[in-house]
Amino acid sequence: MRISLTKAIELLKQGEVVAIPTETVYGLAADARDAQAIAKIYATKERPANNPLIVHIASSEQVADWASECSPLAQKLAEAFWPGPFTLVLLAREDVCSAVRAGEPTVALRVPAHPVTQQLLRESGLGLAAPSANKYTQLSPTTAAHVEFSLGEGIPVLDGGACQVGIESTIVSVSGDRWQLLRPGMIAEAAIALVAGSPASQIALAETPKAPGQHLLHYSPRTPCLLFDSRQSLHDYAANRSDAVALLIGNHDLPGIKNIALAEDPALAAEQLYAALHTLDAMHAAVILIESPPDTPAWTALKDRLQRAAYQPPA
Ligand code: TXA
Ligand code: MG
Repeated sequence: MRISLTKAIELLKQGEVVAIPTETVYGLAADARDAQAIAKIYATKERPANNPLIVHIASSEQVADWASECSPLAQKLAEAFWPGPFTLVLLAREDVCSAVRAGEPTVALRVPAHPVTQQLLRESGLGLAAPSANKYTQLSPTTAAHVEFSLGEGIPVLDGGACQVGIESTIVSVSGDRWQLLRPGMIAEAAIALVAGSPASQIALAETPKAPGQHLLHYSPRTPCLLFDSRQSLHDYAANRSDAVALLIGNHDLPGIKNIALAEDPALAAEQLYAALHTLDAMHAAVILIESPPDTPAWTALKDRLQRAAYQPPA
């Protein structure tokens, strides 16, 4: 159900969930101060409650409403990468609802860049807890139609068009002058190190914020996926599989097999990734064969998502 900005604000203030557009993927949002509203997120996604959520805020001025500590390093990173596909995990204020942080001492914060959600955050004055708007372990949504496909037509969606970054934000935890990468994203580790003036380091064990959502079986299409190290090995395997479809990197063709080729440019490929996987999944093939992207830093985040999509739990 597509709704207006005004309706979205009304529903959120009543403690309901609303799917919202961000530049990375669509989020399933609720008032981050309302434990009952947060419970509806977990129920709708069928997500375990031990997996904390990202709180979306309008600007870095609101960090102090949620975090008990924002070191000069955290401030520097916020200034460099917000608004944008970047999440900071900081020590939480005690009054941050434990449903949002799933009992962790920390809270994850992000200022999204999407203009519609920027307006929503400013006009509502709310902080919005929002995981990706899909059922737990399924493919992330990058269009309003993807959200409805995963969560049903009844879900209220604020339609902001197709997401431009296309994969989930980079997550970094900061403690004092140290930082640690918790999830790769399109803001690369090297770019963060440059702003930080230091490489990533392990944050001491007692303070280490876990990223429980980072289990292997994640971002998966319903169709089984197989990842191939080389185009040649994919090609050889495909020769005996008329029931397979393929996801390729770069503009080339694989005769005899339905396929989608992602752009050769990693930023464009990321933008296309989830829509391509949704389309391949809808072909009801026996298997999706995936060409592994190059082993270079620009492809790290995309490769991470593909490895998760292709992960097979041990039998
Ligand atoms: O781009 C994104 O980040 C999207 C959009 C909607 O903003 N959101 C998203 O949310 O990907 P979700 O819930 O699918 O992933 C959030 C990740 C999970 O891996 C979760 O474990 C981690 O953030 N996380 C949240 N709070 C945390 C905390 N306090 N400490 C460590 N990890 C945390
Ligand atoms: Mg997710």
